[in-house]
Amino acid sequence: MDLSFQIERLLNSFSMTSEWGCIPLPSNWDHARYLPNKWKDYIEVLPNSLNERSYQKWVNDLPDLRPESLPTDRMAWEAWMRMLSMIAHAGLVRISDWKEHGVPARIAVPWYATAQELNRPTVIGHPSLVLFNGKHLADSDDYSLASVGVDGQFLPDPDEAWFYRITWQIERLGAFIHVSLAQLALMKDAGEEDAFVSILGGIDRQLAIVISMLNRMYDGCDPAVFYHKIRPYLSGFEGLQFRGLEGQPRLTFAGGSAAQSSLLQALDAGLGGASPESGHPFLKEMRAYMDPGHRSWVAWLEAHPLGSCLRKSSGPVRQAWLETLERVVQFRNEHLKMVATYILQFSEKAPGTGGTAPDVFLRTVRNRTRKVMDQ
Ligand code: HEM
Repeated sequence: MDLSFQIERLLNSFSMTSEWGCIPLPSNWDHARYLPNKWKDYIEVLPNSLNERSYQKWVNDLPDLRPESLPTDRMAWEAWMRMLSMIAHAGLVRISDWKEHGVPARIAVPWYATAQELNRPTVIGHPSLVLFNGKHLADSDDYSLASVGVDGQFLPDPDEAWFYRITWQIERLGAFIHVSLAQLALMKDAGEEDAFVSILGGIDRQLAIVISMLNRMYDGCDPAVFYHKIRPYLSGFEGLQFRGLEGQPRLTFAGGSAAQSSLLQALDAGLGGASPESGHPFLKEMRAYMDPGHRSWVAWLEAHPLGSCLRKSSGPVRQAWLETLERVVQFRNEHLKMVATYILQFSEKAPGTGGTAPDVFLRTVRNRTRKVMDQ
């Protein structure tokens, strides 16, 4: 069977495609058409930065959600997930009563049901903020940032959209990396050294492009706007009450973070960069926040012998493997600099939106990648 067909089939089984990676199709989907009337106004209401009273009133005036309005297909569930997550997180920032006494039943009940359906925690996460939020507005071979739009945001600031657009574009560039990892895994037993070296070289070059895209964050997202305005909306919660649910559970979840992207975790798993034993427990925890298909893709790569094979390789394959891992380390170093600019310059003790002590956590992950190379 043709290798590219096998790769497509493999990726499809993990809710991915070789052209778009983890980005859902159609890449220009119009999520608003899946939302009930009035509720879909959230797209305009949130960026208006309504104050506490007017936001509370807007939520109270929403028509009740009836059982017949529940979604019937996957894209509709995703549209609901983002709508409800954004309404809830905006309420937690803007309305003091919600933080103290919990999310009101009219939001908490459908939000919880939607998250259950999607097999993800009831909190805003990378899939809703990035994968199902960005959209491609041009021909599929147009890789310019101008072609990337965003559907939902909390604030009127273009900095927030920029933050999602850059991250979405990295996911798009990541499609090539997922394909290459699939290719390596499927070819593992063919023993074609030259092909291995060439695929690893391709990952290395694509990662260099990903790093350039990461650094474009500085062009359109002001660190002060990110830290003071955007970050609070993405934070998680501890012991938050969900009213209207049986037993009124108190839930604790990490907030939205690109640590919930499967791209770096797939690279670690496929290249044997961080084994399940040496990988950081927080990264494992973040898999629960991924789309279930993408979560299984990382697990599949981890269970595949490719990583350990590369670790034991020698000659040109080992050389290419080390160069590619060096590039992963470079990504992590550039990302660390970004975290210093966007978070640590404002407070050395501030947690990441995922809840870690960022400096310690990110250095540990970077150092563990390095350590694998030295073994
Ligand atoms: C303003 C920009 C960014 C900031 C301030 C930031 C911050 C953070 C923080 C604090 C963490 C630690 C986990 C947590 O507590 O959330 C983290 C993890 C992570 N972030 Fe970012 N991030 C940014 C952009 C990005 C982008 C664009 C990507 C690209 C996909 C990315 C990928 C990752 C990954 C993969 C991790 C997990 C750690 C690792 O595997 O090295 N981040 N980020």
